Amino acid sequence: MKPLNPTPSQKTNSTFLNDDYVEKPSVVTPSNTEAKNPPNNIPGTISLESIIRPGRINTIRTDEIEMMTDQPLGEGSFGRVYQGKYKNKDVAIKCFLSPINRATVEKALNEIVIMAQQGHAHVQNLIGIVMDANIRIVTELRQGSLSGFLPTNHVGMPYLLKYCQQIASGMQYLHGCGIIHGDLAARNVLVKDQDNVLVSDFGLAQICYRSNGVPMPEHFPFRYCPPECFDHPLFTRESDVWAFGVTCWEIFTHCRMKPYGRKYSGENFCNLKIDLEKGHRLKSPPLCEGYIGSPVYTKMLECWHLRSEIRPAFYELERFFRCKLVEIENED
Ligand SMILES: Nc1ncnc2c1ncn2[C@@H]1O[C@H](COP(=O)(O)OP(=O)(O)OP(=O)(O)O)[C@@H](O)[C@H]1O
Ligand SMILES: [Mg+2]
Repeated sequence: MKPLNPTPSQKTNSTFLNDDYVEKPSVVTPSNTEAKNPPNNIPGTISLESIIRPGRINTIRTDEIEMMTDQPLGEGSFGRVYQGKYKNKDVAIKCFLSPINRATVEKALNEIVIMAQQGHAHVQNLIGIVMDANIRIVTELRQGSLSGFLPTNHVGMPYLLKYCQQIASGMQYLHGCGIIHGDLAARNVLVKDQDNVLVSDFGLAQICYRSNGVPMPEHFPFRYCPPECFDHPLFTRESDVWAFGVTCWEIFTHCRMKPYGRKYSGENFCNLKIDLEKGHRLKSPPLCEGYIGSPVYTKMLECWHLRSEIRPAFYELERFFRCKLVEIENED
């Protein structure tokens, strides 16, 4: 497996970013203001698991993390991610791009962190948060996003099915915990190793949209959203399923194509809603035209049903991809 590029990702290119989201905020650089939180006093530097305290947010002091600010791993709609060190371990540190309401974040993260700490094989672990002037989220350092991995690693059909199955499994777990992702996309799936991918950045969209008490229309990931979200950007289980369909489409195109290409941009993104309502959908990727692939495209179309209640749930999607995997393995 080729190593992923640790240098700024495609998302640091602002044209790409503007094309993907409705608006891009100005960057608030991370501050080194001393945290007011009491020290954690967690001894040892043995394993990341020992650092995570079960059942509560692990609040990290500013002086406990070291950020390599000169080399961001990448930038997204809500934050910029840097490589860093925490308790002698390599970590990824996400800094929010714009100031957000601390109380909202604390409340939402409390829930998310508790759930994430229960652990799931295909959900990214949260290590903790730094609560100084700007909130930072600390997670385990991975190889990078699936959108960075797939274009340069020629993995075959069994892997693509496996990634879809694992994402569905992670999403099933999150929905079972009452967590709506809100920003599911190949860029938010991290590669642990060639055999394992992890759903990441769940719940952050909610926090950012609602940090001022009202949904914020900025950073709207319109390429991944069902028509019902365009007017009221409130995410649901069903909108996560739609986004999963788009994520599968990305996976089966090896993330070499942007969903809907250049047809829609930040300026005319509402046309996508009109076209979707008329029945337009992403075309079948060539890999989905064969005997194994065509039911996969049919499943994507089910995820993109206009009537949200008809879209499949993640347990069904997980089972579908698991069966497909067995089918393809039995063929060999
Ligand atoms: N834990 C991690 N380990 C390694 N690389 C990471 C990690 N988290 C994020 N990255 C890298 O940083 C990039 C930027 O992440 P970020 O979440 O800010 O933006 P994004 O995922 O591209 O978009 P979005 O705002 O929708 O999440 C990712 O694409 C990925 O390459
Ligand atoms: Mg992300």
